[in-house]
Amino acid sequence: MPAREIKSGVYSVGAIDWDRKLFDELIPLPDGTSYNAYLIKGTLKTALIDTVDPAKEGELIANLEELEVDKIDYVIASHAEQDHSGSIPKILELYPDAKVVVNPKCKTMLMDLLSINDDKFITIGDGEILSLGDKTIQFIFAPWVHWPETMLTYLKEDKILFTCDFLGSHFASDKLFVEDEAALYIAAKRYYAEIMMPFRAAIRKNIEKISELEIDIIAPSHGQVYKNPGFIINAYRNWISDEVKNEVVIPYVSMHGSTAKMVEYFVNALKDRGIRAKPFNLTEMDLGELAIAIVESATVVVGSPTVLTGPHPAVVYAASLLNALRPKTKFVSIIGSYGWGGKMVEQVKGMLPNLKVELLEPVIVKGYPKKEDFESLDKLADEIFKKHSNII
Ligand code: FEO
Repeated sequence: MPAREIKSGVYSVGAIDWDRKLFDELIPLPDGTSYNAYLIKGTLKTALIDTVDPAKEGELIANLEELEVDKIDYVIASHAEQDHSGSIPKILELYPDAKVVVNPKCKTMLMDLLSINDDKFITIGDGEILSLGDKTIQFIFAPWVHWPETMLTYLKEDKILFTCDFLGSHFASDKLFVEDEAALYIAAKRYYAEIMMPFRAAIRKNIEKISELEIDIIAPSHGQVYKNPGFIINAYRNWISDEVKNEVVIPYVSMHGSTAKMVEYFVNALKDRGIRAKPFNLTEMDLGELAIAIVESATVVVGSPTVLTGPHPAVVYAASLLNALRPKTKFVSIIGSYGWGGKMVEQVKGMLPNLKVELLEPVIVKGYPKKEDFESLDKLADEIFKKHSNII
């Protein structure tokens, strides 16, 4: 993708990765992604904000050539993760006078990850200002969105906030700016769910920090650029709030139909009580969809058969994801079946230590569910109805 002007003297020079299917060899990317880098040409100095994944460095270099950039004074490293920092060594090779502008934590990480020499860095503090001549940039430390060294860059004259991973989306598009907010909302929610959700408390602080700024444009390091900053900031405010929705997410696996029958009955029991139920068959789904579903649901009910003495391995995987993502879920329960015994419930419970939840009475049945088992599922649905009574 060629370089594109955001405002006079400010360009998007990064790369689009249409075909990437997985991030960190873990996160599915149904919409591809982009590695956004931005060039700011001041009257005195030129700054490059971040680089791109090394696999795409040719695209970044072509864009700099297209803009006839013969000098870069500052390479601002917002974040040490290699999808943004990985091409810094190449840029330093092409522009040997450039200095890498970092906060102290990022400096040590870049020295560790990319073996950049100490004399290549300029270290700045939180709130520090750097003049490019007619353009002034300010650094805003934003730790834990999602690494400890993340920082944002504010271009004062143009009121552009470069937010690095924060507020981004894995969304490949040839359109620089968001045009279809509904489509972007889904991609941004997936990105929040998979990457940012464990850091809700840090995000709250950082959202407050940036609310002091006058912002016309938000330019993240992944996905499209926002001309309507309120759209993404308000979405984040909802996701990070303590408010949950009257929903029950049910990740489940069934080997011989017993757990599936319980899930089917339970979904209807919840619907009869006015509660939205979202079952996810873990053998067929993209785990990102489960991550999105748990962003705002009040309750998660895990459904698992007993394999040998414990939960199905797909449930173990989903439980470890739930525990790592730390959703704001308030209530958890477990349903499922067994053939001759085991400790499935204890094991699933033990896999969720990070969740601050109330555990509702599990429903575990021997073999195929019978009349009294369906009654137990009704009781669990009644209990959830009571617990959700103040939730919209
Ligand atoms: Fe897009 Fe944390 O790197």
